[in-house]
Amino acid sequence: MQKVLITGGAGFIGSNLAEHHLARESQVTVFDNLSRPGGGARKNMEYLTARYKDNPNFEFVLGDVKNLDQLTEVMPGIDVVFHVAGQTAVTTSIDDPIEDFDTNARGTFNVLEAARRAGSDPIIFFTSTNKVYGDLTRQPVTLVEKETRWDFGDKGFSEGVSEDYPLDFEAPYGCSKGAGDAYCLEYARTFGLRTVVFRMSAIYGTGQHPTEDQAWVGWFIRRSMEKSPVTIYGDGKQVRDILFITDLLNAFDQALESIESTKGQAFNIGGGRRNSSSILELLQLLREKLGIQPSNVDFGPWRLADQKVYISNTAKAKKTFNWEPRVSQEEGITRLYEWMREGKR
Ligand SMILES: NC(=O)c1ccc[n+]([C@@H]2O[C@H](COP(=O)([O-])OP(=O)(O)OC[C@H]3O[C@@H](n4cnc5c(N)ncnc54)[C@H](O)[C@@H]3O)[C@@H](O)[C@H]2O)c1
Repeated sequence: MQKVLITGGAGFIGSNLAEHHLARESQVTVFDNLSRPGGGARKNMEYLTARYKDNPNFEFVLGDVKNLDQLTEVMPGIDVVFHVAGQTAVTTSIDDPIEDFDTNARGTFNVLEAARRAGSDPIIFFTSTNKVYGDLTRQPVTLVEKETRWDFGDKGFSEGVSEDYPLDFEAPYGCSKGAGDAYCLEYARTFGLRTVVFRMSAIYGTGQHPTEDQAWVGWFIRRSMEKSPVTIYGDGKQVRDILFITDLLNAFDQALESIESTKGQAFNIGGGRRNSSSILELLQLLREKLGIQPSNVDFGPWRLADQKVYISNTAKAKKTFNWEPRVSQEEGITRLYEWMREGKR
């Protein structure tokens, strides 16, 4: 039986991973300190505990990735680690860079060290971020302002940003995640650990508890459902490619099946150009397709390190492990809306 450790397993991505692997009868250890701002991890944990309390394959460990001893205790015998625990917001990383560093940089280092010492040679997936490419000025890209969005003006970027783009860690969050990303690749090179890095754009879906600082798709859906006011920081034309959670789970599965080709490598993972949206376009879709809108839209100053446009080029993932997104943004947004409307957690 496959033994899976999910750090951050009470979070959005982690709780989806936990259910996915329990459904396949893997033994799943969720390791989380339940610190997600807004209480989302606690809600997910209550849900998982209620649903799987009688399942002998499910275990919850209240633990902190900042604590190497706790990780060392849970690591022996593990086959696959999904290291998704993290401080997830750029804004919070600016308010408290020490906590951000300790969680994301030191925490990832601890996971690698615990895995290296464990003796069971676990495969490790790390969820990195598009922020490791900074504001896309290292290799100049022309930006074009259109009616509802910013876009790349250069043909070379029509399918988005590839892994060849120079790294340029920006904001404390970009640095702490970038350090984790670099250490994962280094531990593959020097110690032969089978690490795989996913540099992800915006992921959204069921089990996500958005805050104003993180998970923007969910945030705008929730506020629109509640007919609450929203603030857009910047002009609202900033673009991201968005990826529905089930597509991310498929990416993990397929990269795991192809571990001999994926180990020691980083992949850009996102919805690609077809699933890219600006904030203004998302609000328009919510209005036209779901009939919901916020009570008022305010504009505030641009946030630091907010790329005007970022779209993932996922050609390397397609080529290496035959993965591409399947869920359209219209479908995914509708599914998230319906899940929020049910209001079960
Ligand atoms: N969701 C996205 O759009 C996105 C995009 C790029 C990268 N990522 C990365 O993916 C990972 C998961 O993101 P998510 O959206 O599921 O976030 P999330 O906040 O829902 O989940 C993170 C989980 O980690 C836990 N955690 C935080 N600090 C911890 C610590 N010190 N020890 C143990 N657990 C801790 C939190 O309680 C939470 O349950 C993060 O590392 C994030 O940086 C997410």
